[in-house]
Amino acid sequence: MSQEFPQATARAHSNIAFIKYWGNIDDQLRLPANPSLSMNLANLYTETTVQWDTTLIRDTLTLNGEVASPKALQRVVTFLDELRQHTGIQGYAKISSVNNFPMGAGIASSASAFAALTLAAVTAAGLSLAERQLTTIARLGSGSASRSIPCGFVEWHTGNIHEDSYAESIAPPEYWEIADVIAIISDEHKAVVSHEGHETAHTSDLQAARVAGAHERLRVCKQAILDRDFGTFAEVVEHDSNLMHAVMMTSKPPLFYWHPATLTVMNCVRQWRQEGLEVCYTLDAGPNAHCICIRSAAEQVSQKLQTLSEVKEVRFSTPGGPAVIVEPTLDP
Ligand code: PMV
Repeated sequence: MSQEFPQATARAHSNIAFIKYWGNIDDQLRLPANPSLSMNLANLYTETTVQWDTTLIRDTLTLNGEVASPKALQRVVTFLDELRQHTGIQGYAKISSVNNFPMGAGIASSASAFAALTLAAVTAAGLSLAERQLTTIARLGSGSASRSIPCGFVEWHTGNIHEDSYAESIAPPEYWEIADVIAIISDEHKAVVSHEGHETAHTSDLQAARVAGAHERLRVCKQAILDRDFGTFAEVVEHDSNLMHAVMMTSKPPLFYWHPATLTVMNCVRQWRQEGLEVCYTLDAGPNAHCICIRSAAEQVSQKLQTLSEVKEVRFSTPGGPAVIVEPTLDP
């Protein structure tokens, strides 16, 4: 990128939700049906460089060094239009985004991507916004992106208007030494992307019950994190993931994200926990199982997962920090 126009590079981590976001009360503003709670993933991140270039006649986007597809570009342009509206920034942006994990590896990148894009775009324009406002803007790109702005363990409040639906840290990454050991079962692209799934959540008879109990599950999960109480944490995290997938499976049309191997891993994880290993599972909108464990158990969990023939690959992450401005380190 030429140096004559202002630019900035931001790094944001992916996150895994312990209490899941599924369904909106307002799809346009992405005001969620329920609050959610997650952990940033230190080892999985996106670096995005934004340059506001007054000679451009439209926004441009490269992803991992390649010109983005029209669909990916359109999603980013729609987001930038909202960002321009909320911040008063004018002109078009040249955007280059790189993940440190392969795209299509079965690991969601929209959270880290929109969090990094938000921070880079705002900083490149010379603005310095409060973290809370950054989280509300990132939310407009992808709900879970709001949780990739603050550090460590993060809660996203529902809110009834744009300004009140924000995320904040409940504990720094070093507060609790846990890890995410991700069992990659499939690296295929999702048949139904999550932002489309949110729109059908209300068609499940189970969604109202899931939403009604979410505040209490979040309270229990948050307290378990603050108390470093893995037993309580494991039960509520698995239950919340099961509830979200029950809603997905009973939506119209139904969404089945599990593969047979997903269930195999879920059963193994429960068995290992009964045998004394501090590990539990949680699944996003895909077949891969995030096995959350006490840091000291991570090596054992990883080894056990690798003995399962259905598991293609295992990835590891500790809790991660906030979105930050950096010098670019990743080559496209
Ligand atoms: O932020 P989105 O629209 O990609 O939705 C994320 C949905 C889940 O990953 C399934 C749950 C969550 O809270 O992250």
